[in-house]
Amino acid sequence: MAIGVFDSGVGGLTVHRKLVRRFPGADFVYLADQANAPYGGRPGEEIVELTRAGCDRLFAEGCDLVVLACNTASAIALRRLQQTWLPGRRRELGRPVNVLGIIVPTIEAATGLPWEHEAERRGDKVEKLDILAVFATPATAKSRVYEIEIDKRRQDVAVFVEPCPELAGMIEGNAGAVQLAAAIETHVGQITARIGRPPDRAILGCTHYEIVADMFRAALKPGTPLIHQPDATAEALAAYLARHPEYEAGSSGLRRFLTTGKPGAQHELVETFWEAPLSFERA
Ligand code: DGL
Repeated sequence: MAIGVFDSGVGGLTVHRKLVRRFPGADFVYLADQANAPYGGRPGEEIVELTRAGCDRLFAEGCDLVVLACNTASAIALRRLQQTWLPGRRRELGRPVNVLGIIVPTIEAATGLPWEHEAERRGDKVEKLDILAVFATPATAKSRVYEIEIDKRRQDVAVFVEPCPELAGMIEGNAGAVQLAAAIETHVGQITARIGRPPDRAILGCTHYEIVADMFRAALKPGTPLIHQPDATAEALAAYLARHPEYEAGSSGLRRFLTTGKPGAQHELVETFWEAPLSFERA
């Protein structure tokens, strides 16, 4: 079998690249739903339906395990699909299939605690010492998943989320460096003003933003640690595969890149990040 990697567009390539480095012999099929990107401003029901269709497409390509390399799909669609769609789909397909998200590993990395851990809540007031900024799409921000799940585990961490409504679309559309840097500086400025001081750590909570991580580094206080979603996701996948021998990652080193949008070469911003030409097939 192959491992499917899904995103609305090119953002998931940041996760895919890390997964391929972690599992060089494994087979991977990447699907970008570029006909419908960006997802971050869409209503929840649409995000659920598009994510379901993307996962199904990857199951049809022979993937048994799909990694949602997309915060928006993970925050809005994953639980619904796991509860209401996957059990029936497994029966119909007659084989084990599963979908894994990107937010659980990111929260584990941000809290330093396994997902199962929920802090015992004491009555006394906890002083928040560690200020964590999360940059995300409007849909992810609205879900409040980062605030809720981190607060359950670490009451000493204060989470501030900055929605960046235009950013994924700009990256998907090959915006210029000057425009991108200006948009990122504005968001970093806005969240810093809201907090009242620069954040201590940050999460680029949309996989597209990792493509321009250097611009975030330049806009944040020098040395601000970034919690790295691709690393966290690769470690989580390794642990999942070790626990679930029914899923194998394949061994022929297959790399396929599919898009629901325009097939062919990807734009300059993506190729600069990828450091090689990259061509997508029609999904
Ligand atoms: N890359 C995605 C994420 O991590 C989606 C961005 C979008 O389509 O708005 O949220």
